[in-house]
Amino acid sequence: MPEPRWDRLWTDVHLATMTDPSLGIVRNAAIAASDGRIAWVGPAADLPGPPDHLAAEVIHCAGAWLTPGFIDCHTHIVFGGDRTADFRRRLHGESYAEIARAGGGIMSTVRATRAASNEELTAGAAARATELSAWGVTTIEVKSGYGLDLDNEIRMLEVAAGLARHVPADISPTLLAAHTIPAGYTRRRADYVRLVVDEIIPAALKQGHATAIDVFCEDIAFTPDESRAILEAGIEAGLHGRLHADQLTDQGGGALAAAVGARSADHLEYLSEGGVHAMAEAEVYAVLLPGAAYTLGADRRPPVDTLRRAGVTMALATDANPGSSPITNVGMILNLGCILFGLTPEEALAGFTAAAARVLGQERDRGTLEPGLRADLALWRVDDLAELCYRMGASPLESLVKDGLPAT
Ligand code: NIG
Ligand code: FE
Repeated sequence: MPEPRWDRLWTDVHLATMTDPSLGIVRNAAIAASDGRIAWVGPAADLPGPPDHLAAEVIHCAGAWLTPGFIDCHTHIVFGGDRTADFRRRLHGESYAEIARAGGGIMSTVRATRAASNEELTAGAAARATELSAWGVTTIEVKSGYGLDLDNEIRMLEVAAGLARHVPADISPTLLAAHTIPAGYTRRRADYVRLVVDEIIPAALKQGHATAIDVFCEDIAFTPDESRAILEAGIEAGLHGRLHADQLTDQGGGALAAAVGARSADHLEYLSEGGVHAMAEAEVYAVLLPGAAYTLGADRRPPVDTLRRAGVTMALATDANPGSSPITNVGMILNLGCILFGLTPEEALAGFTAAAARVLGQERDRGTLEPGLRADLALWRVDDLAELCYRMGASPLESLVKDGLPAT
């Protein structure tokens, strides 16, 4: 039998394959890639020959740790303008909801986004995506939601999809035309819901970038009935359902996500016990966003312990956005996930890899280190992977591999 010949082989490395709840650790390991995919994973002692005979290039990692490239499964990194003024107003005593009702908040970003050119939107988003890459992120979900009319929502999806030309990451665009009721529709909300269902969803499908539909279900955004109508239309058209659920108040969002067959319910600070069980039953994943809870000074935490006991898969994401989570530092989110929300370091790291892949419906393609999956790898200069959740300094990323090729 001829010996296998791989493109690249990494040796003298410890792996977190993320294939079990204890990180799927393989110490003193090796991993190989060919044609952009993982070709072999295991203990170095099991390699079928001397490394130099097995691959065109051998990378000796001097005992570093290697994880799957991180997956940020909830972001809003395409936007115009800046919301530091909202931050100042909150610290002078106004609430997020009061600022939103007074025309600030999401609507102020909508005005700035509509006024920005595609080039300006791309430059800002590419800079933020590059910051995520510095933390090992190789897959980014990017939501629209600051256009809130047909042309600008489609334009946001176009800019989002185009980011893959600027960073070593795959982009998964999500249509969030139902982020808030735009100015001009506040007294005819049903007309906006109809615009989303009858025009914006079909246009997004025709364009072909969006793989998911999302709605902000909240008393400052869409009611549960409006959310249901939009989610059902998107899911019926073949998009994955996502829901900004129970963030500021209990809207029954978790149960709604379960009833319509959404893949995830995100935020969940006010998720009820009934909501947890509905999600568990329907296999809806929880996406926890501690950056927003922290930035807005939320008075509640998601019911992490109840979710854990019910067996709900928990992903973790930056929610990077201009208003409620101006954060592209994954280390900070891992830290907040542990300290503010009570995740274990193992849950937090799974939340940015295996669990996040499930949220995007891409678990057969990424999120774990297994033969056949995409060779998106992050190499970390740490002694213990829990350091990623613990230390709050610069990124300890040593190098990044995208589709089997060095990306840094
Ligand atoms: O996920 N909750 C709604 N949407 C964003 C906030 C967007 C904004 O404030 O601009 C979030 O937190
Ligand atoms: Fe969000």
